[in-house]
This record gives sequence, structure tokens and C-alpha cells, in this order.
Amino acid sequence: MSLLISYIRLPSILALLSQISSLTITICLAMAADFPLNFIEWSLVQGSIAAFIGYQLKMAAWWIPIHFLFMPALVAILSLELSPLWFSVSFLLLFLIYGKTYQTQVPLYLSSQDVTRAITSLLPTHQRFTFIDLGSGCGGLLNKLSKTHTQGTYYGIEAATLPFLISKLRNLLIATKCNIKWGDFWHHDLSHYDVVYAYLSPVPMESLWEKVRQEMRPGSLLISNTFKIPGVEPEKCIQLNDFSKSTLYIWRI
Ligand SMILES: C[S@@+](CC[C@H](N)C(=O)[O-])C[C@H]1O[C@@H](n2cnc3c(N)ncnc32)[C@H](O)[C@@H]1O
Repeated sequence: MSLLISYIRLPSILALLSQISSLTITICLAMAADFPLNFIEWSLVQGSIAAFIGYQLKMAAWWIPIHFLFMPALVAILSLELSPLWFSVSFLLLFLIYGKTYQTQVPLYLSSQDVTRAITSLLPTHQRFTFIDLGSGCGGLLNKLSKTHTQGTYYGIEAATLPFLISKLRNLLIATKCNIKWGDFWHHDLSHYDVVYAYLSPVPMESLWEKVRQEMRPGSLLISNTFKIPGVEPEKCIQLNDFSKSTLYIWRI
């Protein structure tokens, strides 16, 4: 029962419920109303109801415009009468990139050049070290670090299929190979690494700290891009001037 409740509370499930219930209400309204509205106008009614339901369900603020715009965008795109193939291909691509996000609650966005440069300044210069990127995306960060700091051994774990395949392909083109696996980093032991890098989301940070405390070796380094661990002061913060104004939070274990 508690598993069912925790699934229902997932934002993706709440979003689906908001959209389906607002669609049902809109269809009932359309059947009962004696004023003629066109498809786009009804889609705006549906979007407004979905946004209201999302708000009532206390979903994060950024869900509200998504709820409002989802159906009008769908109607507008359908009116373009594109070949169904485009929809199938787009769906497949999005599924291969974001299909696991409903579970992980961590979408794909990439570390900037400034982040790479700042991390470079934190890595040991004269001794060998091991580095892991938790959720390594398309492997860009590992790829760049392995070129400049060749004394490191680089690891990555990525859950999303397409970014993982891209990182594997990139890896073929570089001299210092990175060890990138497809999988879930929650099932991976962090005790082998000198530096652990995470660019995730606010959702998993508390659980990540529990894992780090249990598994990481004393003296090793945890670097989190953008997301703090609630209630745990970092040893150092590096504020960057990139497009998303990233901050690196650093903890020495
Ligand atoms: C914000 S992106 C960061 C990508 C890359 N580390 C970078 O800095 O450019 C986060 C990535 O973590 C992946 N991810 C989230 N949870 C994961 C998990 N439990 N196991 C493996 N990968 C995960 C997501 O699929 C996504 O590609």
C-alpha cells in the first residue's frame, strides 16, 4: 500500500492524473455547453483546468505552465498535419533520453566548460587518482578531463540509453579510455573513488549523502554541481559565471 502511495506521489504520475482529469472535465463541458468553441479554445480551457489541478496538488511551480501549454501545443502541432513518423521518431528519441526520469527525477542537462575547468583545478596534479561521474550523461565531462589529466582513471554510470550510447561512441575517439557503464549508480559502491562528481537534482541529494557517508573513503572528495545537500555545509563553494550560474559544492569526507 505504501509503495502504491509513493508511486502516486511521483510528479510524473500526478502530472498524468492532472492532464487526464482536466481532459475528462473539458470533454464533459464541451458536451454540455451550448456555446461553440474551436479546438484551440477548448485546449486552452483544458490547459487552464490542468494548471489549476496541478496547483491544487502542490506540484512544483514549473509544472503549472507545462500543464497549461501541453494540450494547446499538442493541438497546434496536430494542425500542422505532419507525418506520424515524426511523432514516432521524436517519441523514441525522448524516451531513450528521458524515459528513466520518472524514476530518477534527474533529467539530462550538461556540465559547462567552466565547470570542467573548475573541476580540473581540484584534481591532483602529480599522483594517480580515480574519478567517477554519477549519471555521466553523454560523457563530455569525463572525455575532457581524461584528455587534460591523464594520470586519472575515469568512470561513469548512466541510466539513460541514448546518452550512454553517445558516451560510448565518444570514448572510442579518445586515447585515455573512460570506463562507462549503463546502469543505476545507487547499486554501485563508491569506496573505490578519490573524487565523486554529481550533477543531479534537488530530489536525490539527501539519499546521496547517506550513500556517500557509508561508502566513500576518508579523505576522498565529493563535488556536487548546483545542488546542495540539505543541512550539510560544504567545505568549499566555487561560484561560476557560466550560463546557468553554476556553483560547485565540495565536501572532503
Ligand atoms: C544533469 S545530467 C548530468 C550529466 C553529466 N554528468 C554532466 O555533468 O554533463 C544527470 C544525468 O544523471 C543520470 N542519472 C540520474 N539518476 C541516475 C541513476 N540513478 N543512475 C545512473 N544515472 C542516473 C540522468 O539520466 C542524466 O543523464
